[in-house]
Amino acid sequence: MAMNAPASRSNLIDGKAFAENLRKQIAADVTLLKSNHGFTPGLAVVLVGEDPASRVYVKNKAAQTVEVGMASFEHKLPPTTGQAELLALVKKLNDDPAVNGILVQLPLPKQIDPQAVLDAIDPAKDVDGFHVVNAGRLATGGEALVPCTPLGCLLLLKDRLGDLSGKRAVVVGRSNIVGKPMAQLLLGESCTVTIAHSRTRDLAAECRRAEILVAAVGKPEMVKGDWVAPGATVIDVGINRIPMPDGKGRLVGDVAFAEAAKHAGAITPVPGGVGPMTIACLLKNTVTAGCRQRGIKL
Ligand code: GUN
Repeated sequence: MAMNAPASRSNLIDGKAFAENLRKQIAADVTLLKSNHGFTPGLAVVLVGEDPASRVYVKNKAAQTVEVGMASFEHKLPPTTGQAELLALVKKLNDDPAVNGILVQLPLPKQIDPQAVLDAIDPAKDVDGFHVVNAGRLATGGEALVPCTPLGCLLLLKDRLGDLSGKRAVVVGRSNIVGKPMAQLLLGESCTVTIAHSRTRDLAAECRRAEILVAAVGKPEMVKGDWVAPGATVIDVGINRIPMPDGKGRLVGDVAFAEAAKHAGAITPVPGGVGPMTIACLLKNTVTAGCRQRGIKL
């Protein structure tokens, strides 16, 4: 009699399902914080201007904040807002005990220096993890708030692979928001980390050495299928809209998914991979920040 084939785990990493689960856990934590500590964590999101993509992000952030039982404070300012006015709002939010996390949506209008605004956010409330104090703490092994997208990637990797210690990881991209913190997180898990970028010689060869390959370059399908070592775990951070004749466009990642999936042991799709993890990790960071501010151990 033929043996049943063992149930094989798909090589697809379902970020949408993982993020849903994470939000359920966060909702359970928030319920506990309310009942045991009389504490409702609160997230303030600031949007300056009318950028359509930013409006959608902010709307989704606010909706998911409320869905997990937290307080959401939305501040929508006109595109003509000056830097002093925005800095005054940040100061008000820093001083407001009901606000545990502050996110100022980027990009900001031209008249505002984004660095000045990020520098003004209280590092204890910096749920984006963009403040230099948090970047420094992450780099030196301190108690940081970690940028949401790389944190989401790390959670997916640990869920799929368990212990990452000793693994060869290649991060393609060196941005302050994804590439650099991703590399720090992987180093913190005792991976052997390479950061590759636009000036890297023979990028394909660097990628082929990776057991863990994280692509965060913002270039549609730049990482080719034959750059992926057999069995490697591939995390695709890219979200690129390719114009299509229907006018709607198609979303693709930084990895040529169909080819790469033939080689990879596991791979995130776009959409439905890393994307949904970012807001879930923002909510997680807000709970973390609030608990630290109040000295609560969850
Ligand atoms: N704009 C696009 N993504 C982000 C993000 O993660 N944080 C902020 N503050 N702005 C963004």
